[in-house]
Amino acid sequence: MRNIYDSHAHYNDEAFDEDRDGLLSSLPEKGICAVINCGTDLASSEFSLSLAGKYPFIRAACGIHPHEASACPGDYLEALKELLKRENCVAVGEIGLDYHYDFSPRDIQQKIFEEQIILAKELDMPIIVHDREAHEDTLRLLRKYKPKGVVHCFSGSAETAKETLALGMYIGLGGAVTFKNARKPLEVAAAVPDDRLLIETDCPYMTPVPFRGRRNDSGFIPYAAEVIAGVRGVSPEAVLELTRQNANALFKTDF
Ligand code: NI
Repeated sequence: MRNIYDSHAHYNDEAFDEDRDGLLSSLPEKGICAVINCGTDLASSEFSLSLAGKYPFIRAACGIHPHEASACPGDYLEALKELLKRENCVAVGEIGLDYHYDFSPRDIQQKIFEEQIILAKELDMPIIVHDREAHEDTLRLLRKYKPKGVVHCFSGSAETAKETLALGMYIGLGGAVTFKNARKPLEVAAAVPDDRLLIETDCPYMTPVPFRGRRNDSGFIPYAAEVIAGVRGVSPEAVLELTRQNANALFKTDF
């Protein structure tokens, strides 16, 4: 197996400070062919780009996460645009809305999300969307601008998935499909068409069962792939292969 394309990771996270280089160097021998490392603010976006410069299988996404929306500088759009134009940057992300934690006021989250969608359209780049308990407002903005992109770690219902797909978006699934309470993610995993599914870790978070509680990394993707394959009635290998092809299509990469 050499076709694992992890479409969403945060190897910049401090959880990897002690062994980042050793771990990343070991990923190709575990079958990982590509990783999209997502920034959550300007500094982590810059870090994503430096990882992409160092490891040939990593590409960067740069963007302001809703948690960081109220902390980002007033002139962030200019700085972000410069990062997005750099070599190895393939997406605007991760961006979106989080009404679960509400770390930034909702009106500011919406403003920063909307501005970044507009920037992505201007640069003709896909977006990587974080939507936690904010399905309606997320869909409203996707409907308004019709960007290309993926709703990562998809947590909506099969009905919300249907509307997201109708807008042309991809759906990203990961460790959550293995959790005990995974009714909705499994319904979604069964329903997404072959050409719209991506697989991801969101590491260091969302570690799949049976390793829940430990730090996640791309090497654990086969556990999510196995569950997704089960509900789709195909082999894990087939899920990894189609998600690799889909990620290449969305991010215009060739892994
Ligand atoms: Ni993330």
